[in-house]
Amino acid sequence: MKNKVVIITGGSSGIGLALAERFGQAGSKVMITGRNEESLAHAVNNLKARGISVSAFQADVSKEADNKAMAEAAIRQYGTIDILINNAGISMRALFAEVDLEVVRRVMDTNFYGVLYATRYCLPEIIKNKGSVVGISSIAGFRGLPGRTGYSASKFALNGFLEVLRTELLNTGVHVLTACPGFTASNIRMRALTKDGNAQGKSPRVEEKMMTAEECALHIYKAIVKRKRTLILTGQGRLTVWLNKWWPSLADKLVYSTMAKERPN
Ligand SMILES: NC(=O)c1ccc[n+]([C@@H]2O[C@H](COP(=O)([O-])OP(=O)(O)OC[C@H]3O[C@@H](n4cnc5c(N)ncnc54)[C@H](OP(=O)(O)O)[C@@H]3O)[C@@H](O)[C@H]2O)c1
Repeated sequence: MKNKVVIITGGSSGIGLALAERFGQAGSKVMITGRNEESLAHAVNNLKARGISVSAFQADVSKEADNKAMAEAAIRQYGTIDILINNAGISMRALFAEVDLEVVRRVMDTNFYGVLYATRYCLPEIIKNKGSVVGISSIAGFRGLPGRTGYSASKFALNGFLEVLRTELLNTGVHVLTACPGFTASNIRMRALTKDGNAQGKSPRVEEKMMTAEECALHIYKAIVKRKRTLILTGQGRLTVWLNKWWPSLADKLVYSTMAKERPN
């Protein structure tokens, strides 16, 4: 990964930030993006203090023009793009019967359309370099989770998109990875949108018991190095995907009872 140019969308927090550090330690030239300028600056300062070659580009993945500008900025600065990690994402937590449909639209705009836009504008360089397109999906992209209609739908859509992209690019040497973390400690649940579109502000789960963002990033890094097609993380995550495939009616009941134990908003 030495000297590879790696763009990580949503690199100012959680898994994206840990990925920036991991690739930076391997000698990659990293560009991180995000909407909040202060968080980006904070992340860049911390990474630079650890000797990592990193730059920031303020961009909202849900805006097509921002993604075009992001790709252009990376090419201007580094001359090319080798790896795009589509990591930026938001979640939600509300029953479908109650949720403002605008919440679902915002989640789809970020988690699905954001990946489409970023990939489209980075792809020409990635094809030239036989590089990698990575989508940070979720177990929720294989098995729908109650209270996360928009989130699960966005990740199912992402999985479909990545599968087609991989197949279309089969003879180009481009690598496409669908990376599906299980529950990972980060800010995602604090920022998840409730039924009226406000941030939840707290996690309904025990974050301390989850995989760390650093461990998750290490698994994703290794999967990119080995050019794997799919990565499914955590024992619980693998069991959920397996059970849903072979015994979906039991999976319905188990997922219902597991998610019903979450703390209320
Ligand atoms: N943590 C988990 O349990 C888990 C499990 C499975 C999958 N994932 C996936 O992992 C990815 C990273 O999540 P995380 O857990 O690390 O969450 P996080 O700590 O909340 O970080 C999310 C990052 O995405 C950025 N972001 C959000 N909306 C954006 C937008 N519209 N444009 C650009 N950047 C945006 C955020 O910065 P700004 O807010 O400043 O834009 C932040 O840097 C997501 O795709 C998520 O779905 C997470």
